[in-house]
Amino acid sequence: MRLLFVGDIVGPPGVTFIRRALPAIVAAEQVDLVIANAENAAGGSGITPRVYRQLRQAGVDLITLGDHVYRKMDIIPILTADDRVCKPANFPEEAPGRPFALAAARDGTLVAVVCLLGRTFMRPVDCPFKAADRVLGQLANTTRCVVIDMHAEATADKYLMAHYLKGRVSAVLGTHTHVPTADEQILPGGTAFICDVGMTGPYDSILGRRIDRVLPTTISFVPSAFDVAEGDPRLAAAIVDIEAATGRAVAIRRYMLDEAGLHALVGVPR
Ligand SMILES: [Fe+2]
Ligand SMILES: [Fe+2]
Repeated sequence: MRLLFVGDIVGPPGVTFIRRALPAIVAAEQVDLVIANAENAAGGSGITPRVYRQLRQAGVDLITLGDHVYRKMDIIPILTADDRVCKPANFPEEAPGRPFALAAARDGTLVAVVCLLGRTFMRPVDCPFKAADRVLGQLANTTRCVVIDMHAEATADKYLMAHYLKGRVSAVLGTHTHVPTADEQILPGGTAFICDVGMTGPYDSILGRRIDRVLPTTISFVPSAFDVAEGDPRLAAAIVDIEAATGRAVAIRRYMLDEAGLHALVGVPR
């Protein structure tokens, strides 16, 4: 079973690019299930029902969020009603949303995804390790194919979670920093890991925001609107191959598609 995990979708450039590219990627790479982190999808922060539907229609099966989960409040009814999207699992019980999202892949395998927030250089939140234990307990009789979206600022938080969960989940894939890393690996016990999948959005930017806003504000301390940038949209992802019966990952590969790559992909006669 082959899974495509797409990193933080940022604003209209990210949403537009994934809508254009995803059907071609799924066909070319023979993907069985698509997961995407969409915490920055609506205007750079949060997700709206409209963007949620656009991503689902584009072929995203499961959606994770992150520290910006509630930035657009009108997503809350979908968060509570729809089992294809989840809140961070180490948010309090009272926080609206489910601790995991669940869907069947094209080959029929049930796949669950769980989002956990790191605690270094981020807002205080419940223990991600205890939350992981709790949710894995809930999923024990449901599926062995569990993917963790480790949404954290610090690289060490992501390595710690990967080694805490190795042999117990199919993959621990990092998001949040918007910068792809080159450390993809299969840990003992068959757990795929990468520190950060990277951003799906405009790379001519500061992590998705306009350089001509963020840079002067940083230098002068004069506030400005950190609008989403536009140039050089790319899709960043990880492709993970999993043994459906055991949930063990056998391969992980970085994936990056830019405008030229998309033209080449769509232009290939099939
Ligand atoms: Fe993000
Ligand atoms: Fe984030």
